[in-house]
Amino acid sequence: MTSVRLETSSHLDGTVAADVLALAARAADADGVEAISEAFRLALTSAHGDVSHLVAYAGESRSEDLLGYAAVDSGGSAELVVDPDARRQGVGRELLHALFDSDFVPGSATGVWAHGDLPAAQALAAAEGLVSTRELHVMARDVAPGDEVDPVLPEGFSARTFELGRDEQAWLEVNALAFATHPEQGSITLEDLQDRMAQDWFDPAGLFLVEDTTVTDADGGHPLAASHWTKREPGSRTGEVYVVGVHPAYQGRGLAGPLTGLGTAYLARQGVDTIDLYVDGDNTRALATYRRAGFEDAAIHVVYGRPTAP
Ligand SMILES: CC(C)(COP(=O)(O)OP(=O)(O)OC[C@H]1O[C@@H](n2cnc3c(N)ncnc32)[C@H](O)[C@@H]1OP(=O)(O)O)[C@@H](O)C(=O)NCCC(=O)NCCS
Repeated sequence: MTSVRLETSSHLDGTVAADVLALAARAADADGVEAISEAFRLALTSAHGDVSHLVAYAGESRSEDLLGYAAVDSGGSAELVVDPDARRQGVGRELLHALFDSDFVPGSATGVWAHGDLPAAQALAAAEGLVSTRELHVMARDVAPGDEVDPVLPEGFSARTFELGRDEQAWLEVNALAFATHPEQGSITLEDLQDRMAQDWFDPAGLFLVEDTTVTDADGGHPLAASHWTKREPGSRTGEVYVVGVHPAYQGRGLAGPLTGLGTAYLARQGVDTIDLYVDGDNTRALATYRRAGFEDAAIHVVYGRPTAP
């Protein structure tokens, strides 16, 4: 067993953040899946993130050799990765214990993501008595001829694209209501939104707003009923159904299918070959919408947490 020295902090300096990103990239190469998700990657370098970082170094040598990294956000959601060259030496177990220990991490973790649900993660979770508490499905489908044609929206609704500086507040309100029970997506703040919009993949032409044209406000605008934000890394042949949300007052009115189609048609016109998306395993309505739109399961991500008392 390697002796491990853990350092905990609410802010990482630039060199450590870069080392952690390099470790995460090595792990992604070895595992075929990213251990650290976009939100946690952004938190590594963000000045206003409320994430606690845990960095594992080779202890007794006093060297700054990084062995592993874990982080927990303010909602108790955690991620954990060990350098491929430092595995099976107890580093993962040590980081996992610290994540669930409020002496190390304020608030402590409620669950740890296992992206791709790799055998090593399953084994570590089982060894520590953790169980699957949430499943996130990655769904995908190939683009087919005809996908580039925009769908017809139900009567009384029209679509336009996002205008920076005008639509942020309305989008945040609908997002918070549509994702009220979703731990990460529902808590997005203006800063989080602006962080995402500052990324090189962001394109307002791929963020669609569906408005209720039967109601007109004092400024001549219409209430936002739903939105579909698509994502495509520059040059990528894969597009993503990034965030689809329908305001609760407009749910059950046949918007989900055409709303999904607005984004997939846009991505098809952008020339992507494949479209993917992430959806929670218990979101049966969304799963049904995406299956109807031709998406199939491609991978699964699992959150491991403590079993709840019966
Ligand atoms: C999962 C991961 C964090 C494990 O890190 P690690 O430092 O290799 O794990 P440890 O050495 O602390 O292992 C602790 C126990 O987990 C189990 N385990 C870990 N990896 C295993 C593997 N590849 N095969 C079988 N059992 C394994 C064993 O019971 C092990 O105890 P033992 O070595 O005494 O038998 C690492 O493989 C990783 O970074 N994977 C990619 C990211 C990821 O999946 N994170 C989610 C974590 S829930």
